[in-house]
Amino acid sequence: MDSNMLRGHTENFVLSLLKNKDMYGYEMLEGIAKKTNGKFAIKKITLYKTLERLEKAEYIVSYYDQDGESKGGKRKYFRITDEGRKKIKEDIYKWKETKEILEQFIIESSHVTIGDNVLYYDEVTSTNDLAKEFAQKKITEGSCIVADTQKKGRGRLNRNWYDQKGKAIAMSIVLYPKTDLKDLTKITQVAAAGVYETLKQYGVLAKIKWPNDILIKGKKLCGILVESALKAKEVEYVVIGIGLNLNLDMEVVPEDLKLTSLNVETGREVDKDEFILNLLNNLTIYYNQFLKGGNVFTDICRENSYLIGKEAFIKVDGKSYKVEILDISTNGELLVRNEYGQIESYVQTEVTLEDNY
Ligand code: BTN
Repeated sequence: MDSNMLRGHTENFVLSLLKNKDMYGYEMLEGIAKKTNGKFAIKKITLYKTLERLEKAEYIVSYYDQDGESKGGKRKYFRITDEGRKKIKEDIYKWKETKEILEQFIIESSHVTIGDNVLYYDEVTSTNDLAKEFAQKKITEGSCIVADTQKKGRGRLNRNWYDQKGKAIAMSIVLYPKTDLKDLTKITQVAAAGVYETLKQYGVLAKIKWPNDILIKGKKLCGILVESALKAKEVEYVVIGIGLNLNLDMEVVPEDLKLTSLNVETGREVDKDEFILNLLNNLTIYYNQFLKGGNVFTDICRENSYLIGKEAFIKVDGKSYKVEILDISTNGELLVRNEYGQIESYVQTEVTLEDNY
């Protein structure tokens, strides 16, 4: 074997594909394009030249399949040699850039589907509490708990969450993101963006009130409660709780709660299962973007913010301070200008406007 052969990205990609199974050329081209979301598509000729080089250096061997299914007769397969396999282990990480691409490759091929498991209940105390119990038992990531009614539905700061049996969505999702603690606040934005986009599918343009309220014309349609557990400074699990007023009977809703409901905004009853399905799809998109380091969901929260540009009050240690809301940073913090003209950032705080929302 020519151990001095200089391997580049393409060589390493081919070897990493062949690590798991023998493949023929076209399969590799598709594999590379698919697993890197088209970012690393290579030309057929480059692939064949690469395969030739790898074969000459005895990293791989080729053979023809017996069935001859391909149009031109037999199909040429490639297999990594034992020596080749050993070689990858020894030096695949010597090429820093390749390592980064490979890492990206691994990240991009991992995808979490939210809502593959949906558990429906008639009545629970709180879907968030149930989701936490399941999370401790390591239920599959993306599992979702939905209830018709909650006896003790909670909002932020331990407030009660208003409920009308069967007329609202109360659901919680279990996630196990391997993420920095500082990025956890982004999960609320993932949820807010998911709700925003779903409402848009129903023709409703909502406003997102940082960090967790979805409002329409100043009235609350949806609240998000993200709770997490840490173990040795690592995220053990995250639960996203979403309460959304879908088909509320507004005649019995206390006015001081300042709530609205999707049926009021669309002028028609909304199918619950269909809405949940759409929501789960959107959450899947934004959660996977979060896992890949993207921040489209933050942009959605910023572009549709209820607060940016307004004067508001924020609470720090129980005291209220007047500020001007400036922006939401890419890290998901709220940027404000205080009374002395200084810029401050907040990860979690209560924000109220003079009219209380
Ligand atoms: C808020 O507005 O402060 C957040 C409200 C979150 C309510 C939902 S309903 C489903 C899930 N279970 C709970 O107990 N709370 C969340």
